Amino acid sequence: MGKRADADLVVIGAGIAGLTAALSAASAGLRVVVLNKGPHWKPDRHEQSTSTFYAQGGIAVVEPDNPEDSIDLHVSDTLAAGAGLTDADATRPIVADAWPAIVELVARGADFDRDADGAFRRTREGGHSVRRIIHAGGDATGAQVQRALGQAVSAASNMALTCIDDAVVTDLLLADGTVVGATYRVADAPDVHAVYAPTVLLATGGAGHLYAATTNPAGATADGIALALRAGALVADLEFIQFHPTMLYVPGARGRRTLISEAVRGEGGRLVDAGGESVTAGVHPMGDLAPRDVVSRAVEASLDRSGDDCVFLDISDVDDFERRFPTVTAGIRAAGLADDGDIRSAPGAGAVPQRIPVVPGAHYLCGGVVATPSGQTSVPGLLVAGEVARTGLHGANRLASNSLLEGLVMGRKAAAQAVRRRGMPVVEVAVPSVGQRAALDRKSLQDLMSGSVALRRCADGLAEVAAVLDAAPRRAMGSVHDLEDAALTLTARAVVAAALARRESRGCHSRTDYPDTDATGVSRTFGYDGSVVAE
Ligand code: FAD
Ligand code: SIN
Repeated sequence: MGKRADADLVVIGAGIAGLTAALSAASAGLRVVVLNKGPHWKPDRHEQSTSTFYAQGGIAVVEPDNPEDSIDLHVSDTLAAGAGLTDADATRPIVADAWPAIVELVARGADFDRDADGAFRRTREGGHSVRRIIHAGGDATGAQVQRALGQAVSAASNMALTCIDDAVVTDLLLADGTVVGATYRVADAPDVHAVYAPTVLLATGGAGHLYAATTNPAGATADGIALALRAGALVADLEFIQFHPTMLYVPGARGRRTLISEAVRGEGGRLVDAGGESVTAGVHPMGDLAPRDVVSRAVEASLDRSGDDCVFLDISDVDDFERRFPTVTAGIRAAGLADDGDIRSAPGAGAVPQRIPVVPGAHYLCGGVVATPSGQTSVPGLLVAGEVARTGLHGANRLASNSLLEGLVMGRKAAAQAVRRRGMPVVEVAVPSVGQRAALDRKSLQDLMSGSVALRRCADGLAEVAAVLDAAPRRAMGSVHDLEDAALTLTARAVVAAALARRESRGCHSRTDYPDTDATGVSRTFGYDGSVVAE
């Protein structure tokens, strides 16, 4: 028998966006329930559930006392990275609100790296014209943020703020087209529980497990995109899936792979091929620190030329690598990478190789559920924040370290919107059972997406994937894994529809049959059935 509860705000997801919104809303007096597929913070859990936890490089922020930087410069770097589809009006307020949001995050307990004078240490990543990325624990920024927010939520947990871990949301509850709550199951147990509220915030993160190898944690299975589509919300820019240029290369490995932070290149790392030649020479004026889509394409082109399986990140010019990048070092050791760069079978404890083998890996969903500047979707009662949202900040390619920033800022804005919606009437509707859903098996889906919907696409390949997805069998949703498979299947179909509709190459979307960029190219909005709703 399922339980029922009432709240002023239901938050789905416990990464930077969800926990920031939950804390802000609770401190404004709202009754908040956080539903989270994994633990909101458990240092002893080996695999963490949020991308936030795994974030390395840092958070992009313009510090008021940095004479080399300005909001205008950060906005223009963001627009340049976005390859013509970033929305300048949406970008400016997010970038401008970064500093107060960071001040609040520090007050909540996040401890960023500082120099002897107490000033934040800043690094550089691709597409940034100045050093403006603050970090923690060297390259453990996300773990620091997740710890601070998770502990703040645990400390605030009381009648007004409840965090339910291992709760997988199965549906959004709708009354006459308005979202009035959400249903969830706990792990693989069959009972369906409901929380009713005038506002539901989706903060479910990304979709890296559309692909066979990704930097994302296991739970990044596009659940929020699928929940929103099923509730009738509009999505946009889903074709722009960002591949990070430097995911650790491990032959044949599937699932979550170690990221080698872009900050390594910010501190002197160089991308070279097996012969030691630069991978990005002559490609872009910013070289190895060009925007991420440009560098990933350069790596792909280098692999095409050489026929090799990977390129290398040469770290011989990076000072004190193991101290500056402890997370990357641990990932390399866990993979069993020996000091000559070969992958050995057993985890090692030796020196980090001077040349780290890397390949591009699925990393970030630039598009998502369409959101206004306050986080409102096209469905009344439903807000989005973080990676699941499409605010217009990322356009066709996200600027490095703008994601934690967006989650932080939009989490606060979503909380403010929930405060405005407090007390709106909630019509209590019956709790639906979780019926059968179309779901391809995970490996087939990931292989199809990795083969035909990755860095390079063409009409024939996309159409073949679409046909297989359209024929996906319906099956019972007995486990969390089943629900995730269904979410991946629905989202993959939406990604393919968007990729088919974009007959040009731009940002993270490259079409071998349409290699040029169309000067009139626009952002497209799609609905549940994959049809274009607006251009
Ligand atoms: P997440 O942090 O992913 O949290 C999503 C939450 O939703 C999780 O708690 C999950 O369990 C929950 N959830 C999902 N589905 C359901 C469901 N059905 N029911 C209930 N709960 C659900 N960005 C930067 O700006 N700087 C960086 O340095 C950086 N480094 C990165 C390094 C790595 C390895 C990765 C993977 C990403 C990195 N990013 C970085 C991107 C950034 O970390 C993410 O985009 C960001 O953390 C997303 O935050 P979020 O709150 O939207 O989602
Ligand atoms: C990284 O550290 O390279 C990841 C940064 C990001 O995804 O923004």
